[in-house]
Amino acid sequence: MSTQKKTQPSRREFLKAAGGVAAAATLPTFAFPTVHPQGSDEIRLALVGCGGRGGGAAANALSTTSGPVKLVAMADVFQDRLDDTFKNLDKGFKKTMDVPKDRQFIGFDGYKKAMDCLKPGDVVILTTPPAFRWVHFQYAISKKLNVFMEKPVTVDGPTSKKMFALGEQASAAGLKVGVGLMSRHAPWLQQLHERVQNGELGEIILMRGYRMHGPAATFESTPKPDGISDLEYQIRRFHSFLWCSGGCFNDFYIHIVDQGCWMKNALPVSAQAIGGRHYKQSPEGLTFVDQNLDTYGVEYTFPDGTKFFFDGRCIEGAYGKFSSYLHGTKGVAIASRANDCGGPSSIYKGQKMTPESLLWQSTDRSNPYQNEWDELMKAIRGNKPFNEVKQGVNASLVSSMGRMAAHTGQEITYDAMLNCEHEFAPNVDKLTLGSPSPLMPEANGRYPIPQPGIKTTKEY
Ligand SMILES: NC(=O)c1ccc[n+]([C@@H]2O[C@H](COP(=O)([O-])OP(=O)(O)OC[C@H]3O[C@@H](n4cnc5c(N)ncnc54)[C@H](O)[C@@H]3O)[C@@H](O)[C@H]2O)c1
Repeated sequence: MSTQKKTQPSRREFLKAAGGVAAAATLPTFAFPTVHPQGSDEIRLALVGCGGRGGGAAANALSTTSGPVKLVAMADVFQDRLDDTFKNLDKGFKKTMDVPKDRQFIGFDGYKKAMDCLKPGDVVILTTPPAFRWVHFQYAISKKLNVFMEKPVTVDGPTSKKMFALGEQASAAGLKVGVGLMSRHAPWLQQLHERVQNGELGEIILMRGYRMHGPAATFESTPKPDGISDLEYQIRRFHSFLWCSGGCFNDFYIHIVDQGCWMKNALPVSAQAIGGRHYKQSPEGLTFVDQNLDTYGVEYTFPDGTKFFFDGRCIEGAYGKFSSYLHGTKGVAIASRANDCGGPSSIYKGQKMTPESLLWQSTDRSNPYQNEWDELMKAIRGNKPFNEVKQGVNASLVSSMGRMAAHTGQEITYDAMLNCEHEFAPNVDKLTLGSPSPLMPEANGRYPIPQPGIKTTKEY
């Protein structure tokens, strides 16, 4: 179930939140008659960004049962990534794939070619690193395509304004847009949300979230080897570089951050944070050149004064915890018990989480990654409103607030983050494989890193 319908803003509210008419005016606008596939029509898919999650999202899309679906085009900037995902998908979905070589596209313009293979009302899957999200989404809207896009959807203020405006345009064109914040489609979290709204916890007065484990994915990077450009190196190791992903903060922590905002039905007004780089050397003695801090501790403040504390850490051998909690005047709840949104969720009387004080525990075990696709496809075939972009941009912005607070050592408000003019990759829509990267090395071969208290208005 999408919560988007009741939270959809009026155009005036939207323009206010997105920084006014000027923000919307910087993007082209598109107007079309509504086109949508009927119940039994085949919906064709294109996959843009053929990595781990792209393959997973395509598999989820091809596993939906509301009507016929076929994957017909794929695009990536790297041949090896496309080939691997093609092979993996082909093993499980041969009958619902028809992606011959001439519909496999490599390069920064591949997204256009892949979407050009679709017709209005089809679906494009956007699963590149988030730096490219607004570029690809803008083209999808111009082609009148429904969209599934992965989180995060933005990494900075300027692209958040763009995405708020594009989200509005998609709704105006009758397009359906899912965003991969799958917590929102986890039945145990939906049930907990409803119980919280019904007052079962009393008033929420504190929330806590943790994601603490060893270095994951491409969290850390040693210096770029010869024979590969900065651009290729950074895209392949996108969790290491802020322009590409928002770093580990946006990429890893966004789900838990989003859960706090959802359960509270509000967005924080400000964040202050600490963080540090502790072990920035590889076991071989090479200096890590990524832009991430190893530890982050953020205090978010909501409009009613409620605090949400979030701790993130990527250090091997330290205490591990990956879960989220809500404290109310009547009791405490476990939201995500383990990982990004693992169930069961539970509610306890008082503040102790003991078996004797357990009041409720969820029993549903369905797969949120599949649910988000089933609900998107149902909305497309039934032509029901479905647009998760505003929610996705807000989760991305609130993540950026926490990150920027830690990186600069300053208190960062929601408004300051939205209106921060530092666009990390201003010409990302014009990149080619031979372009310099939006982040070039300094004279010592390292990339600029956050220095809290020294670099206070920009993160690097
Ligand atoms: N919801 C979740 O639980 C979840 C889980 C994993 C990843 N994700 C998100 O999915 C996205 C991708 O993550 P991943 O783990 O699959 O990374 P990945 O590196 O495995 O895949 C990304 C792919 O995009 C390609 N790519 C990069 N720039 C491109 C461009 N401009 N045009 C076309 N292709 C391009 C890369 O070559 C790569 O194949 C990220 O935003 C990540 O946060 C979400």
